[in-house]
Amino acid sequence: MATRHFRSLFDVSREELDHLLKSAAALKAARGAHDRPLAGKSVAVIFEKASTRTRLSFDVGIHELGAHSVTLMAKDTQMGRGEPIEDTARMLSGYVHGVVIRTHGHERLEQLCGASRIPVVNGLTDRYHPCQLLADLQTLRESFDAFADLQVAWIGDGNNMAHSWAAAAARAGFTLRLASPKGYEVDRGVLAQARAEGASVVECTSVEEAAEGAHVVTTDVWASMGQEDEVSARKAAFAGFCVDEALMARASKDAVFLHCLPAHRGEEVSVGVLEGPQSRVWDEAENRLHAQKALLAWLLGEDG
Ligand code: CP
Ligand code: NVA
Repeated sequence: MATRHFRSLFDVSREELDHLLKSAAALKAARGAHDRPLAGKSVAVIFEKASTRTRLSFDVGIHELGAHSVTLMAKDTQMGRGEPIEDTARMLSGYVHGVVIRTHGHERLEQLCGASRIPVVNGLTDRYHPCQLLADLQTLRESFDAFADLQVAWIGDGNNMAHSWAAAAARAGFTLRLASPKGYEVDRGVLAQARAEGASVVECTSVEEAAEGAHVVTTDVWASMGQEDEVSARKAAFAGFCVDEALMARASKDAVFLHCLPAHRGEEVSVGVLEGPQSRVWDEAENRLHAQKALLAWLLGEDG
């Protein structure tokens, strides 16, 4: 059987996603008192970009599943000195049972997957951040009964998080309402794939239109990792794209606010919204741990 990888939400079926979210909720409820399904196994967690949450949540989660994690900052390894990623994949396949990687171009992740005999998990590329979406969907299940009834407003850059929400719309069945500045819209190929796989996605002409009546309002930084040179141009282009109290007032009364973090207060989100009663960002960050444990138990353990 071909090795399963988790490169984006498109890699799991609706049923598999439902299973992962149920498993994540069960692991959260049983924290500290559940089995160790990955006892005796090892997982490599590789970073070619900065991380706080992803690094911590994988490290702790792998430990709680009974496995050993080996966290590598790529710049300190031979990968940082140009060793081909395919060679790294072949070597890793002989040492560990799974690999999580955070890297730049999505094609680099695909190269790793192509040469790997063990499951590869996308810990973020420039195109997708699917582990974050598992946690986000778990957080929404804690607030709402059914995904199918939800309108999700994406306010901001058409980036890896926006792409992940589009893939999630195809699998979870909510309606995604996108508002991005001109020139910063989501990738047309990702949007086409999401729609072809059943996603309901509405491209809005204003942030107000996207937020109107929404049950979930979510955003991300205006300049992602690797776009540091574009910060000032992006600040100008994203003026008016702050999720503030006035925008939240347009959403449904029971609407929640999500942000993958780190957040830039006063840019893409106001302090009042980030710290306010509708914000679920700290539950969302915690759920990275539970959702990724469910993912690894499923990909690497008997729970497949
Ligand atoms: N949300 C997220 O992936 O955070 P880190 O960059 O801190 O891992
Ligand atoms: N879009 C952001 C997400 C960080 C978790 C980035 O890629 O930097």
